[in-house]
Amino acid sequence: METANSCLIFFIIIAVMISVSSASLKVSFYKASCPSAEAIVRKAVNKAVSRNPGIAAGLIRMHFHDCFVRGCDASVLLDSTPGNPSEKEHPANNPSLRGFEVIDKAKAEIEAKCPQTVSCADILAFAARDSAFKVGGINYAVPAGRRDGRVSLRDEPSGNLPPPSLNAQQLKDNFARKGLSLEEMVTLSGAHSIGVSHCSSFSDRLYSFNATHRQDPSLDPKFAGELRKKCPPPSNSGSGSDPTVPLDVLTPNRLDNKYYSDLKNHRGVLTSDQTLLSSPSTARMVRNNARHSTAWANKFASAMVKMGSIEALTGSQGEIRKNCRVVN
Ligand code: HEM
Ligand SMILES: *[C@@H]1O[C@H](CO)[C@@H](O)[C@H](O)[C@H]1NC(C)=O
Repeated sequence: METANSCLIFFIIIAVMISVSSASLKVSFYKASCPSAEAIVRKAVNKAVSRNPGIAAGLIRMHFHDCFVRGCDASVLLDSTPGNPSEKEHPANNPSLRGFEVIDKAKAEIEAKCPQTVSCADILAFAARDSAFKVGGINYAVPAGRRDGRVSLRDEPSGNLPPPSLNAQQLKDNFARKGLSLEEMVTLSGAHSIGVSHCSSFSDRLYSFNATHRQDPSLDPKFAGELRKKCPPPSNSGSGSDPTVPLDVLTPNRLDNKYYSDLKNHRGVLTSDQTLLSSPSTARMVRNNARHSTAWANKFASAMVKMGSIEALTGSQGEIRKNCRVVN
């Protein structure tokens, strides 16, 4: 009797804990309050990505940059105000982050149908998923119910977003601080199977690696030569010209596992990409992901959902912005 009772109490506690932790975000959150919300976002994304596939890369990256700074609260979408430069002004976001106009367009259409109901943070999470579907056929349900934050500070991406110079251990630590595992870090790095990088994010690997090596020895020399043709030496780029190159040479516009084949071939563009082959535990994951495309795609979907829940505001926290660029 005694044991039965304590068992019951134990299960009630567990049940309450589960419901509290998942009371936060729910699939089909807008089913009753704004049934067309997700369809509106998908349509806006499909239209923009059909015109320019790079927008899919921009939106997936934007969701990452939102979630790693103050949680997934759409802080990345806020414009600067007089005296307060926002996250958008940080070098990790300016000038490379793209796709803001797609969020604006979806938000305007949703506001016309369901005023102040659907958060900008959720619209961004949907848009990232719809991008993954459009350019990678990767579909997944997005738990929603995020609320929008009211703060965005230019300097906060520093120390939260990983710079491209990090090694595998540093990347592991950076993701661990956001509650993501080593494997999730390697899985999510597969997002670099689409989109581009500016030369300035990796040109040290081509021209000024260290005191004894001009070129990063972890780069395939032939590939390094191709990159040098596209990227002028930093001394010549004082003109302000900073070209871009694809992050995945094999299938630059397709979200797939070919990124991991690039790494095996020493054709990872960023230090933070190629380093995944240099530690034994991550190298094993790289080889597995290169071999098993469906398994990687499934892990990518789960890791995106997990990333999308980082420090989300829910319930009565934050607000539902009317315009994603300004607080109410
Ligand atoms: C593992 C640590 C990561 C580092 C150090 C990193 C760093 C970078 C850098 C430096 C660029 C190029 C920016 C430029 O010069 O234009 C880039 C691009 C990109 N990143 Fe990451 N990233 C990381 C993880 C992620 C994650 C987790 C995602 C999404 C799930 C992501 C998605 C993207 C995409 C899609 C692009 C291409 C953007 C475009 O073409 O507009 N990255 N990343
Ligand atoms: C430069 O990099 C190479 C290859 O990683 C390494 O073997 C060498 O020790 C480094 N040299 C210096 C001076 O750091």
